[in-house]
Parts: sequence; C-alpha cells; structure tokens
Amino acid sequence: MTVKRSELKRQLLEQARKRPTPRATNPATPAINGVDATRTVPERFTRFDAHPGYQQLAMMRQGAEQLGLVDPFFKVHEGLAGATSIIQGNTCINFASYNYLGYSGDPRVVQAACDAAAHYGTSVSASRVVSGERPIHGELEQAIANAYGVEDAVAFVSGHATNVSTLGYLLGPKDLVLHDEYIHNSSLVGAQLSGAKRMSFSHNDPDALDALLSRHRHQFERVLIVIEGLYSMDGDIPDLPRFIELKQRHQAWLMVDEAHSFGVMGATGLGLREHFAINPTDVDIWMGTMSKTLSGCGGYIAGNKALVETLRYFAPGFLYSVGMPAQVAAPSLKVLELMQQEPERVTQLQTISHYFLQQAQARGLDTGHSIGSAVVPVIVGSSPLAAHLSHALFEQHINVQPILYPAVPEKSARLRFFLSCEHTQAHIDKTLDVLVTLLANAQR
Ligand SMILES: Cc1ncc(COP(=O)(O)O)c(C=O)c1O
Repeated sequence: MTVKRSELKRQLLEQARKRPTPRATNPATPAINGVDATRTVPERFTRFDAHPGYQQLAMMRQGAEQLGLVDPFFKVHEGLAGATSIIQGNTCINFASYNYLGYSGDPRVVQAACDAAAHYGTSVSASRVVSGERPIHGELEQAIANAYGVEDAVAFVSGHATNVSTLGYLLGPKDLVLHDEYIHNSSLVGAQLSGAKRMSFSHNDPDALDALLSRHRHQFERVLIVIEGLYSMDGDIPDLPRFIELKQRHQAWLMVDEAHSFGVMGATGLGLREHFAINPTDVDIWMGTMSKTLSGCGGYIAGNKALVETLRYFAPGFLYSVGMPAQVAAPSLKVLELMQQEPERVTQLQTISHYFLQQAQARGLDTGHSIGSAVVPVIVGSSPLAAHLSHALFEQHINVQPILYPAVPEKSARLRFFLSCEHTQAHIDKTLDVLVTLLANAQR
C-alpha cells in the first residue's frame, strides 16, 4: 500500500519533533566519538571565574572585607627572612620562616651556592636518569644517608613531589595507607594517586592505629603507616618507639616525614632517630625536605638500597623531572657539613623555643600540645580573631601567620610561631607582651 505524500510528510515531521532538538551545530564539524563537538556547553564549565575554587576565594575575600580584615597571605619579604625580616620597608621580628638553624643567608652557605653555579651552570637541564646527573647530586645524597645512618638516599626537586611520587609509586590498589589525621597534604595526595585504600587515625594515637591494623591488616598486601617527626600545626611529636613496635608486630612499613624535625630534634639536629636514640633502620622510609633547616629546596627519601634504587629508576617525580640545580644542592650539602661542626645552634634553637613556650604559658596563652621545639601555636579560638591579631601584630612590626579555618577547625584557629636559633629573649618578651595586650583589647 502506498502512503500518500501528505501523510508521509506528516509522519516525518512527527518523528523529527520527537528527536532531541539539535543545538547550534557547525555542519563542517563532524561528531567526535558520537559527541557533537560544538554542542553548547553551560558557561560555568568554560570560565575560570566560575570554578568552585575561585568562587570560594571570592566568598572568603568578601567575608574578610565585611569583617574589616586584611588578607594575611603573600606578604613580600624584601631580603633575607630569618629571626627578622624586612616587609613593606620595615624590619619586623619574624616568626614565619623555617630557617630553623639560621643557615639560609649564612655567607658560607651562600658561597657554596655561588661556587656550584659557577662550576656547573644554573640548570642541569634534564632528568638525572638521562643527562642531568652531576657529582654534587651523589655527594648530597651520600651526606643525607650518612646523617640518617642508612644505606642510601635520593633527592627530588620538591619536598611536596617527594611524598606524592613516593607514595604514588610504591603503593597500589591492593595496599593500605594508614596516616595520622594531621598528615601533610603531600602524603594525602600521594596516597590518592597510588589508588591504595586510605584511612586516618587520631592524632598521635598509637592505640587507634593498633586497632585499625588489627582490624584491617590482613585484607591488604602492603601497608604503609605515615607519620611526621614534628607536626607543624601543633609543634608536637609522635611516640616513635611505639609506632616502630606496631609496624613490626603488624608487618607494615613505617614512613616518617621529617620536614620540620630534621635540624630541630635530637642533640645535634639529626631528627627523631637521635631524639629517641632508635636504630635508624627501624624506620623503613625517612623523608625530609631541603627547604627548611637545609636552606635549599627539594625533598629526600633515605632508607635501604632497594627502596632508594626503586625510586631512582621509577618514581615519576624523579624519573620524569629535571635534576636539582647545583646551586640548590650545594647549600644543603654545606649545611649538613656545618651542622656537624656547630651543634650549639641546635642547642640554642631548643633553648629559645622552650623559653617561648614557657613565657607564653606563664602569660596564660593556650599553646595546645606544643612541646616547645621550634613550633609553638597560640590558639585563639576564632579565625577572625586570629586574622585580626596577626594584622595588629604586623602593624607593630611583628610578623606571624594566622592559621584559619578550614586549615584547622574553627575553634582551634591560631597564630603559629616558628622559632629560629637567632631569635633572642628580647624578641620573644616584646612579642608576647604585645600579643597579650592586643588579646585583652580584643576581648574587651
Ligand atoms: C610535613 C611536610 N611535608 C612535606 C612538605 C613539602 O615540602 P616543601 O615545602 O619543601 O615542598 C612540607 C612543607 O611545608 C611539610 O610541612
């Protein structure tokens, strides 16, 4: 039976109406993988100012403006940042630098950087695996391994990338990462990258870790416990011997991030293993950064040969990234040498840090769990108050960063003081006196 032309036209129109309406298309552009490449996309997916991160920033700025607060971030230090620093043309007492032993800026360390740049040039231009290897890399790694009393060490160009690459490479989906709830972002990102299951335990709580290990260890192949040597938000340390006992009993690996404890803890600054007088091979993975005590930039992993060789050949942040420039490696190498000759700097740092803690507590300030080793928070309990105090101190030429929600829970918003061996009692007395007056005025 033939369908009449008019009926056919009606049926075709009906079908066309039922199909999804084609959006503005460019007939010259074919569909890619069945998707029309020119289909209109909501504007929010094409604009950076519609990105959730930017929107959050805009909200934070608006909130700060309404409260009359000044943005405390990205302050420019115009010269060497140590116990004092020039900011906006004023010399400030500075509590916002990790130059713990005062070696960044030391003429001997600066000279080492200059000599290395003059000898090797300013870039090694390539991954060390291909043509970026220089003698100074091996010298630095040997010095780090010696400082830890372990077989070998490998240096990465960034501390953050060290954790991302190490965790990301060593672990996989059948493994488990157990970490302190306050662990640094770099370890979290590494754990995420690895695809391993990740669980956190309460801060500095080996019993909580023990419970997790008892419940979950058998479900996984490799298990890595990650803790820090000195927690930079709170200034407290883990009970390392307890963590070692747990890792041995549950057949797990233990990694200690010594970003803030190397140079600070132990009689000669050799970190937590010196502080607790443990056997260095009882920790499987020692991690640290060159950017703090070691006055350079980059990170390291120290441990046994098999671990270090594996990372040297396969950790993506090492294999596919440029080698450390010589003028960045040289200062850290020099500092490791000077630390052996000048243990009095470590003693001085420990003495002045204890002085700060004791004086702050004597004035009734809340220093949380800080043990008084280079990092002392003063908890003020609200982000606007912490931001206000930071700014008010800055107006009196005292520089200290506020730590605000969401970096810490709102009720533990704080000012965070980093000490250096070059701070004096006069710096501390003046700072705490001003702070106490400002707090009293703010609470009135
Ligand atoms: C505990 C910890 N690990 C790793 C890093 C990353 O080190 P870097 O800043 O040298 O990249 C930091 C940085 O502050 C840190 O505090």
